[in-house]
Amino acid sequence: MASGTSRDVLGSGFRVLGRAIREQPRIFAVAVTGSVLFGLMVIASAYVVGTVVGKVVVPAIARGSVAGGTLALAAAALFGISLLRVVGIFGRRLGAGYMQYRLQAAYRRRVTRRYLELPLAWHHRNATGTLLSNANSDVEAAWYPIAPLPFAVGTLVMLVGAVVSLFLTDWALALVGLAVFPALFALNVVYSRRMAPRQARAQRLRAEVSGIAHESFDGALVVKTMGREAQETDRFAARAGELRDALIAVGKLRGVFDPMLETLPSLGTLAVLVVGAVRLRQGAIDVTELVSVAFLFTVLAFPVRAIGWVLAELPRSVAGWDRVRRVLDATGEMPYGTRTLDPGTPTPATLAFHDVHFGYEPAEAHLPGTEVLGEVSFTVPAGRTVALVGPTGAGKSTIASLAVRLVDPRAGTVTVDGVDVRELTAASLASTVALVAQVPFVFDDTVRANISLDRPGIGDDEVWAALRLAEADGFVAALPDGLDTMVGERGTSLSGGQRQRLTLARALAGRPRLLVLDDATSAVDPRVEAAILAGLRAPAGRTSVDPEHRSPTPGHGGGGAPASILVVAYRRATIALADEVIYMEHGRVLARGTHTELLATVPGYADLVTAYEQAEQEREQQHTYDEVTPLTSGLEIEVDR
Ligand SMILES: Nc1ncnc2c1ncn2[C@@H]1O[C@H](COP(=O)(O)OP(=O)(O)OP(=O)(O)O)[C@@H](O)[C@H]1O
Ligand SMILES: [Mg+2]
Repeated sequence: MASGTSRDVLGSGFRVLGRAIREQPRIFAVAVTGSVLFGLMVIASAYVVGTVVGKVVVPAIARGSVAGGTLALAAAALFGISLLRVVGIFGRRLGAGYMQYRLQAAYRRRVTRRYLELPLAWHHRNATGTLLSNANSDVEAAWYPIAPLPFAVGTLVMLVGAVVSLFLTDWALALVGLAVFPALFALNVVYSRRMAPRQARAQRLRAEVSGIAHESFDGALVVKTMGREAQETDRFAARAGELRDALIAVGKLRGVFDPMLETLPSLGTLAVLVVGAVRLRQGAIDVTELVSVAFLFTVLAFPVRAIGWVLAELPRSVAGWDRVRRVLDATGEMPYGTRTLDPGTPTPATLAFHDVHFGYEPAEAHLPGTEVLGEVSFTVPAGRTVALVGPTGAGKSTIASLAVRLVDPRAGTVTVDGVDVRELTAASLASTVALVAQVPFVFDDTVRANISLDRPGIGDDEVWAALRLAEADGFVAALPDGLDTMVGERGTSLSGGQRQRLTLARALAGRPRLLVLDDATSAVDPRVEAAILAGLRAPAGRTSVDPEHRSPTPGHGGGGAPASILVVAYRRATIALADEVIYMEHGRVLARGTHTELLATVPGYADLVTAYEQAEQEREQQHTYDEVTPLTSGLEIEVDR
């Protein structure tokens, strides 16, 4: 089994190398040319050294005087050869480096682009850690053998050249070469085969060690508050110890094989001297030839190692490539359509679910996927606010994902203004609908960049207008650099409510015609939440409100286009603002109506709202919300303590 597998690995490895050469043929040609030049110059140098000894040194010893002309000629020849060797090394190194790093960069880009193209369903099945290592170490591993590849190809050419020149010199010496070179080659193959699993193990442990470190640091809060420092340190130490042992195993093998690889060419030189002495006495060769061949054996030893380096990296390369290819070939893409919704109309959009069924794909393909949503039908009429209420796990976030087409239904359709969202272009969908997700995500960038996301037409005025609507203008104005303040990785320098309001402002800045809020203001003070929602509601949706309140308040500046709103909510005050409430349990819509109607007719709904309210009161007593005064930022709270 082992030999079959390693032959497979060799075959796949050569295919990966072939792909690399096809992608960068010109650079590869430059590198190989440099390498071949180097190899030929190595052979040439051996013959020049032989000539110097045979034609200059030996006669000089015999005569007691040096032939100046010949010596100068030999020196010039050696200098010329060295120069060409330098050029060869330069070409090979430069070419190999270019090729390796270009391929790495190209495939990193391809993998990350693919990540963004692949639908959320695919991401649900793949851990973030794996995605990171695919884009980083797997891409690197796939192209590792590229670095020594030109050297190895040049060495093969050099070995052929060496054998040919040996035969031209003397058949007996050629036989020595034919015995030593293949032995050297075989030793390299055995070495790399033994080395491959040890290297692979070390590589895997490296990833695990950094994974544990990453998790411990990421979960620093839990680790500290739960007093898990000792256990985490132990967990890390255990894996670090394994890595140490794996690397020592690599070193031990190196310790055994390196001397052998050094010794074999020396034995070859010895054999050449023995055989050569006999042939010299027989008059078959002269001193020049003997010295040349002996020298050739000593200078060939090092380049032959390059072949071993390529072979040693192949298994790792194949493993890395397989993982990269799995991403590049991943299916389940969600193709976009070609239709657009007239972007010129700033009117609210209508969202409708028609008998939608949905289930998350199981982690393993053979397992049956359970249905998470069934027979879901409802409409958010243009300009209206619809609240989605239901216990945890009911499927509210799933509905939000379907509404903005992060996932597609198994059956049924989701339409915006009567058009199936699957028929819309990506740009049209993105400009029409916006989701503020349950878990806010903030980029490690400035407040401005987080809100505008470099979208055209979103200048500072639009950013401030969006911040006002999200009730976030106060705290942003109080930040040390205002819009230019860096908010840190994942917004760590912000409070939970501030983060939520930034992501809300980001959605609003694009002036979506349909806004989907998935528990988007849960960490915000209830009164602020009600104010935000009241500010967002389109004038068309406020027909029941008296005209005095209908005009946009100066604080909101009228910055938002009127939008239809689907809001996942649990606070009574928030729900009460909605035109209609959809109550769901276990992926089914159980009841629809106004808040008052549902309270009166649906016992489960009344229970849930009451339970939420009690939890809310307890929370409020503990003051876990943001400061209501907009001038207080999370940063200041930190400093004041
Ligand atoms: N990525 C996923 N893979 C598999 N199952 C999932 C996934 N996300 C959610 N589910 C399942 O789908 C069901 C609905 O989840 P969903 O997140 O829509 O609930 P929710 O109503 O938003 O709950 P909450 O109020 O806690 O946010 C749950 O049973 C959940 O376990
Ligand atoms: Mg949810």
